[in-house]
Amino acid sequence: MTWLITGGAGFIGAHVVRAMAAAGERIVVLDDLSTGSADRLPPDVPLETGTVLDRATVDRVLREHAVTGVVHIAGKKQVAESVARPLYYYRENVEGIRVLLEAAAEAGVGRFLFSSSAAVYGMPDVDLVTEDTPCAPINPYGESKLAGEWLVSAVGRAHSMATASLRYFNVAGAATPELGDAGVSNLVPMVFEKLDAGEPPRIFGDDYPTPDGTCVRDYIHVEDIASAHVAAARRLAADPAASLVLNIGRGEGVSVSEMIDVIRDVTGHRDAAAETTGRRPGDPARVVAAADRIRAELGWTARHGVKEMVASAWAGWRLRHP
Ligand code: WQD
Repeated sequence: MTWLITGGAGFIGAHVVRAMAAAGERIVVLDDLSTGSADRLPPDVPLETGTVLDRATVDRVLREHAVTGVVHIAGKKQVAESVARPLYYYRENVEGIRVLLEAAAEAGVGRFLFSSSAAVYGMPDVDLVTEDTPCAPINPYGESKLAGEWLVSAVGRAHSMATASLRYFNVAGAATPELGDAGVSNLVPMVFEKLDAGEPPRIFGDDYPTPDGTCVRDYIHVEDIASAHVAAARRLAADPAASLVLNIGRGEGVSVSEMIDVIRDVTGHRDAAAETTGRRPGDPARVVAAADRIRAELGWTARHGVKEMVASAWAGWRLRHP
């Protein structure tokens, strides 16, 4: 059984490759290296350079590596960019998965794991978001992920593929400094960048209906994201009829202000005062996962806490910004 992992040279993808290889799975990676890098991959994992949009390449890779399962992580994930360039996001994320699913179905691939996102929920007004919470994405990125889920479940049913769409909440941390996130588009690296510049970290609004007025999110270590993929892959291999949609989160909310406190402690910038700016449009006050279904379906729970996420992310940041 060989798994094709698309986007395996990226921040999250490389962690999934590392965990699935450690679990003894045979892997081949397809990545266009637009944001990923080959040096994130173990030397014994074959890398095919290309995009899922190129049907001929996908067909060749599926055939030459006798692929029996797909983990689709490749995609564009910048919320603000998706608002500015919706057609680019629909092409990359929706047409991309359509081409991949079509090729996989025709090649008789029996398992399909999809990297989805909490962005499918939009602005859920609930304490804990379950997989049955209505999905109302508020940007083209979230829409493209929800559409991807629809394609996965429809093709899975029509072509006898075991499928799972995994809704990542806020991913942070790194398994090793070398695998740290190179991007600076989420809270933790954005605060690191400010601290390195000697500038105050920014809090985008402190007038939300939350205990300390700042937004609350469910931060999940990227190693936990990766172990959830291993558990899901094993379930799909054992259960041909599986058709799952699962939150991957810790089930605990942490506020922006609390995260900045942890970052101050870990980085040693204990006296760095944050500055509060206006709200960022489109930010929900609270998005925290109910993590019951993934525990019931896969026997999986998150193992890493916020301090480990921040400390491992900081080690990765220091490696890239000596
Ligand atoms: C977290 C909180 C900000 C920076 C997005 C996507 C989601 C997923 C994760 C892909 C928010 C606040 C941030 C800063 C701040 N991506 N913040 N100061 O917006 O929860 O989720 O990224 O799947 O789909 O929607 O993550 O890290 O951008 O922000 O106050 O300098 O931190 O307002 O409340 P978000 P984020």
